[in-house]
Amino acid sequence: MPQKGTKKAWAGRFAETANPLMEAFTSSLAFDKRLALYDIQGSIAHCRMLVKQKILTRGEGEKIVKGLEGVRRELEQQRFAFLPSDEDIHMAVERRLTEKIGSLGGKLHTARSRNDQVVLDVRLYLREEITNIVQLIVALQKQFARLAKRHGDVVMPGYTHLQRAQPVLLAHHFLAYYEMLSRDRERMQQCHARVNVLPLGAGALAGTTLPIDRHHVAKLLNFPSVSENSLDTVADRDFLIEFLSASAILSMHLSRLAEELVLWSSSEFGFIELPDAFATGSSMMPQKKNPDIPELVRGKTGRVYGHLMALLTILKGLPLSYNRDLQEDKEPLFDTVDTVKGVLAILDAMLPHIVFREDRLSEAALGGFTLATDVADYLTEKGMPFRKAHEVVGAVVRWCVAHQKRLEQLSVEEWRQFSSVFDHDLLPRLTLESAVDRRRSYGGTARVNVQRRLRSIGV
Ligand code: ARG
Repeated sequence: MPQKGTKKAWAGRFAETANPLMEAFTSSLAFDKRLALYDIQGSIAHCRMLVKQKILTRGEGEKIVKGLEGVRRELEQQRFAFLPSDEDIHMAVERRLTEKIGSLGGKLHTARSRNDQVVLDVRLYLREEITNIVQLIVALQKQFARLAKRHGDVVMPGYTHLQRAQPVLLAHHFLAYYEMLSRDRERMQQCHARVNVLPLGAGALAGTTLPIDRHHVAKLLNFPSVSENSLDTVADRDFLIEFLSASAILSMHLSRLAEELVLWSSSEFGFIELPDAFATGSSMMPQKKNPDIPELVRGKTGRVYGHLMALLTILKGLPLSYNRDLQEDKEPLFDTVDTVKGVLAILDAMLPHIVFREDRLSEAALGGFTLATDVADYLTEKGMPFRKAHEVVGAVVRWCVAHQKRLEQLSVEEWRQFSSVFDHDLLPRLTLESAVDRRRSYGGTARVNVQRRLRSIGV
C-alpha cells in the first residue's frame, strides 16, 4: 500500500501513515522553533566536517551549506512556513532544505542523529543565554554598588527575625546583595564551562561507523572540549539541571530583595518610595500605589523552582541512553531563561529610581534599643564578663521600656544605678555613627570596611 499524507523520515519501516493526534502529541515544534538558528549553525559545521573527511564531496557540501543559508534567511525574515507534520525543528529544517536542493538534502544527516543534534542545539543556545544572563547580573551588581556609593553614610536598622537588631549602613545592606549576585555570577560561569562541550558525533547513542572528526566540529563551533562517552552524551542533561539550579538560587536572592522592597514601601516601614513609572495603581482604591514589580519578581520565583523540580523528575527514572521524555527539557529551560532575564532587566531599570527616605531609615535605626549590644560591649571592654554585661543591659532596657525612655536619653547617674562600671565615656558611644564605625571587624558594617569593599570592586 502506498502511504498517504506527508512522508516521514522513518517511512521505510512503517506500513501506516501517522495519526494526526500522534503528530500533535509528540510535536515539539511549537517550542523548539527557538533553536532554529542554532540548528542551522550546527548543521553547517557538521557538513563542513563531512566534506573535510571526504564523506561528502566538496560540491555536495557547498550545495548543502548554500541551501542551509537559504533556510536561515527564510527563518530570519519570518518567511519559513512550518508544517504540522514537521514534528520538531530538526525535521523542519531538513524538510525545507530538501525542498530547496532536492534529495541531496538527505545527505546532511549522515553520521548524525537527532539525539546528538538536539543536545548540540541546546548547548549552543544555552551558552549564549548564560553569557547574556551573566551580563545582566553584572549590570545589577553595578546598580547596587552605585547605590552603596550614593547613600554612603545613611544608617538603617539591621534586622534579625525582622526585629530591629543593630544599626548598619544602608550601603552595607546594598553590598550584601552585591555579594549574593557575585556567587550567582560564579555559578552561571561554572555552569557555562560544563555547557560548553561538543556532543555532536555521539550519534543516536553509540557513535558512528563513518570516519567523522569530532574535534574539527568542536573547533568550528568554538567548543573547548568534546564529550567522552556517546551514551552519556545523548542521555545527559546535568548541564540543564545545573543551569536551572543556579537560576533557582539567583531567583531566590532576587525574591528576597523583592520582599524587602514590598515591606519597605509599605506605610508601616516607609523606607522607600517606588518610582511612579514602576508602580501600579488600584482600579478601585484611588490612594493606592502598589509594588507589583517586586511582587511579580517574588512570585515568578515559584515557576523557576518548579522548572528545576520538573527536570529533576523527568530525569530520575530514565534508563540510558536517549528517551523521548528528554524532549520535555525544553519548555522548563526556555521559560527559566525568559523569566530570569526579565526579572534581572526590570530590577536593573527600577533600582536607580527608588527614593530612599534617609530620615525614616535613621529614625528607625535608633528605635528598638539597637545600641544595647554596644553598651554590653562597653562593659565587656571594662572587664565584665559578657554574660553579666548582657544581663545588666537587659535590665536597663526593661527599665527604659517601662519608663518610655531611649538608651541615649539616660544620664550617667541613671546608668550608674545599674552598674558602677558605667562612666562618662559611655555617652559618646551611644550614637549611630559610633555604633556603625566601631564595627570594624573584617566584613563588619563600619564605613571604612564598606568603602574598602567599594574600592576593591572598583566603584
Ligand atoms: N525533538 C526531540 C527532542 O527534543 C529531538 C530528538 C528526537 N529523537 C528521537 N529519537 N525521536 O528530544
